[in-house]
Amino acid sequence: MNVLLLGSGGREHALAWKLAQSPDLTKLYASPGNPGIAEHAELVEIKDGDHRGTIDFCLKKSIELVVIGPEAPLVDGLADNLRTMGFAVFGPDKEAARLEGSKGFTKDLCAEANIPTARYARFSSAEAALSALKEFGLPVVIKADGLAAGKGVIIAETAEDTEAAIEGMFDGDFGKAGAEIVIEEFLEGEEASFFAFIDGETVLPLGSAQDHKRVGEGDTGLNTGGMGAYSPAPVLDETLTGRVMDEIVKPTVETLAKRGTPYSGVLFAGLMLTETGPQLIEYNVRFGDPECQVLMMRLEDDLLALMVATAEGRLSEIAPPDLGKQSAMTVVMAAKGYPGTPEKGCPISGIEAAEADGVKIFHAGTSDEDGQLVASGGRVLNVTALGDTLRDAKDTAYAGIDAIDFADGFYRSDIGWRELERG
Ligand code: AMP
Ligand code: GLY
Repeated sequence: MNVLLLGSGGREHALAWKLAQSPDLTKLYASPGNPGIAEHAELVEIKDGDHRGTIDFCLKKSIELVVIGPEAPLVDGLADNLRTMGFAVFGPDKEAARLEGSKGFTKDLCAEANIPTARYARFSSAEAALSALKEFGLPVVIKADGLAAGKGVIIAETAEDTEAAIEGMFDGDFGKAGAEIVIEEFLEGEEASFFAFIDGETVLPLGSAQDHKRVGEGDTGLNTGGMGAYSPAPVLDETLTGRVMDEIVKPTVETLAKRGTPYSGVLFAGLMLTETGPQLIEYNVRFGDPECQVLMMRLEDDLLALMVATAEGRLSEIAPPDLGKQSAMTVVMAAKGYPGTPEKGCPISGIEAAEADGVKIFHAGTSDEDGQLVASGGRVLNVTALGDTLRDAKDTAYAGIDAIDFADGFYRSDIGWRELERG
């Protein structure tokens, strides 16, 4: 089977690495890819947002499955256009992708299907939002409705910060994403993520993970795309997982199917585990980055077979994926300056030595400059390992980091601390 994978981050490297292990894979193409992905795929350049160009490429190369890694092309309707042309796609159509593309859409769906989530209201003007603030206490959460590259959420602790956040969003701080906003009650608890394959109807649970969004040790400092992750997240035990399936994921899938806009792909639920049970914080319509890296590390089944079954609506015929008994951890090495402006061009070496000890390095923001691997993004490498315990996985991953020479790089040394402290 010929497969096209779209994307260029650590998530897509992990997907490419796993797809390459499939006995059914004939040829993998990736656009735009990165030097890590290039070990498993032929890199091609299809312009971002060029749906016609994507279709032409698929026709020319007899592509049988298109795997869409990031959210933007899904929200933009690329999957719809490919499906119209008869291609199998891993990833939801535009309307179902609104689960990530519009926070207000998801909140309204939760209200309709009685899904536990923070109390909320939607606004399309600053005046209306400001006058409704008295209905929410402090802290309060202000969210730009649309896609804002992981930004666009402000937790305001004071009345002044709340007003500034609202004014800023309507003044265009997050571009078009902030033309509408959602104001939400602040939820207390521990966050965890849950992933499932969905083929429109059937939900096959994949597994859980936790990530570290803040740039600094002890979960301090600015928000990032994620500085590290581990899987499983034992806080999401069997009972809670059952509740997440029954109270959150299944009603979402049923509601979308009932509306005639079924969800197909992987669904990533960001959850808050509150005193009264799990509540939905947000949905993503793709794998997490770097959560995907730890899930792929653990996955014992054929990813390509799972993706094809998802795309073809055959998940009811197969067993839930097996993630094995081990734990996985990934630690992000980022370039100095991230999450602001990262320094580019710093040479990186030692990857082979690091991988000799059971470590897998997924490339996120790297480039090949005349045969020298250099940093070219904010998050640069994802140093990933398995272990019989999370502690073992952590020890192996950090030994891998020690073997890497990346002068401008930095990383958090405390990935997994919350779980490791629990013992
Ligand atoms: P989101 O992009 O919706 O996942 O929000 C980003 C982060 O903001 C989440 O991972 C949470 O840490 C935090 N957050 C979002 N909504 C809430 C909420 N209602 N209560 C508390 N924290 C929240
Ligand atoms: N790591 C969070 C995300 O992929 O959205």
